[in-house]
Amino acid sequence: MHKGIAIYPGSFDPPTNGHLDLIERGAKIFEELVVAILRNSEKSPMFSVAERSEMLRQLTADLDNVRIDTFDGLMVEYAKSLDATCILRGIRAISDYEYELQMALMNRKLEPTLETVFMMPADKYSYVSSRLVREVAQAGGPVKGLVPEVVEQKLREKLDPAYKLRDARVSDVLGKRDLDKREKKKKRKKKA
Ligand code: PNS
Repeated sequence: MHKGIAIYPGSFDPPTNGHLDLIERGAKIFEELVVAILRNSEKSPMFSVAERSEMLRQLTADLDNVRIDTFDGLMVEYAKSLDATCILRGIRAISDYEYELQMALMNRKLEPTLETVFMMPADKYSYVSSRLVREVAQAGGPVKGLVPEVVEQKLREKLDPAYKLRDARVSDVLGKRDLDKREKKKKRKKKA
């Protein structure tokens, strides 16, 4: 186990199963892992920082060496303020690599003593991203298996109208099928 503090910074909007998988892996190799949510007023997030913190807190409640925090400004400054020695980031596919490499090298330029450590989440989450989860959920699609249940529930609450619309469409289709069946039955009765 690596002594000292590592931070796992990100937007986590919302936390996915891929994030959780990485947190669990990180918790096994770092003495203390701080999951740090960027407070970025420029972006318009789906979930507030408070909502994201709460979800992550619930999801990591059983991991004693993991805590949730928020930061703004430069991540390396925040890391220094905690005396952290490592930054943990996940790489899912080669497409992540370029951006992550740039960020790691920029952070190294800003603070040479801070090491970035990359870990891979389970391959079953290699296509899962917060952005795609938001996109699917906003269109009323299913996100089961992509995000933890608490997040799924929060998405449902937040996007209630989209889910209602999908449910209405489904019951429309089912209702129409029912109607068709009844019509056919009637016709058969008439013929007999
Ligand atoms: O989950 P994300 O959106 O990929 O996380 C990106 C994050 C928050 C790690 C990155 O944008 C960040 O560290 N922002 C803080 C500002 C900063 O330090 N920028 C310089 C990094 S090269």
